[in-house]
Amino acid sequence: MLLHLDASARRSSFSREVGDTVAAAWRLAHPDAAYVRRDLALDPPPPIGEAWTELCDYVLEHQITEPARYAEAVRTPEQAAAWAVVRPLLEELVAAETVLIAAPMYNFSVPAVLKAWIDQVTFPRMSLAGTKFVVAYARGGAYGPGTPREPFDHHERYLRDFFSGHFAVEDAVFVGSEMVNSLIDPALARRRDEHERSRAAALETARKIGGSL
Ligand SMILES: Cc1cc2nc3c(=O)[nH]c(=O)nc-3n(C[C@H](O)[C@H](O)[C@H](O)COP(=O)(O)O)c2cc1C
Repeated sequence: MLLHLDASARRSSFSREVGDTVAAAWRLAHPDAAYVRRDLALDPPPPIGEAWTELCDYVLEHQITEPARYAEAVRTPEQAAAWAVVRPLLEELVAAETVLIAAPMYNFSVPAVLKAWIDQVTFPRMSLAGTKFVVAYARGGAYGPGTPREPFDHHERYLRDFFSGHFAVEDAVFVGSEMVNSLIDPALARRRDEHERSRAAALETARKIGGSL
């Protein structure tokens, strides 16, 4: 199963374009496989509340590492309500062989709706080793190796550290368009070619990645 998450606040979006390209190629290569799409911008998960932290503490204290057993942590109506939010999100994450996350850079990091999803589905000592993760991104500027903004990239770096540290996934694949702001910001207009090259390369790579997963 492919789980496809969107996180851009825009309908017409470059991260959605790259994600859609990965998904279309994947679906062509796996015509009979299940495909689940969740738009986190359209239907944002709520921020975690106190009852969620109680579920998390119980799981940690009782050394429960199997998501199928997390429901054992539910002891109060508030915790049941928190679990009702987590459960569908977690079930589709655990069922996925591949997770595709279309995520713009917002303020050098990930959109709040994606962070809310991460906070909802992540429990102590989880492992999703073996699940493939692909991030389809878009950024207003350029953050590649050697660029002045490279140290400000808390988007890819955060997601890589998160996948590794919390999901035991070391081989996430990133593909995306940069310099999107050159289309809007007159001060960056001279860098539109850079954006066009980045976008074309991203879409080509996205097709290859989608077809090879
Ligand atoms: C709230 C917000 C914050 C942003 N912050 C950054 C930023 O820190 N760095 C950057 O390069 N671009 C930033 N951008 C530009 C977006 O990354 C760019 O528009 C990108 O194309 C958005 O993805 P989308 O096209 O999928 O919506 C920001 C855009 C928004 C709306």
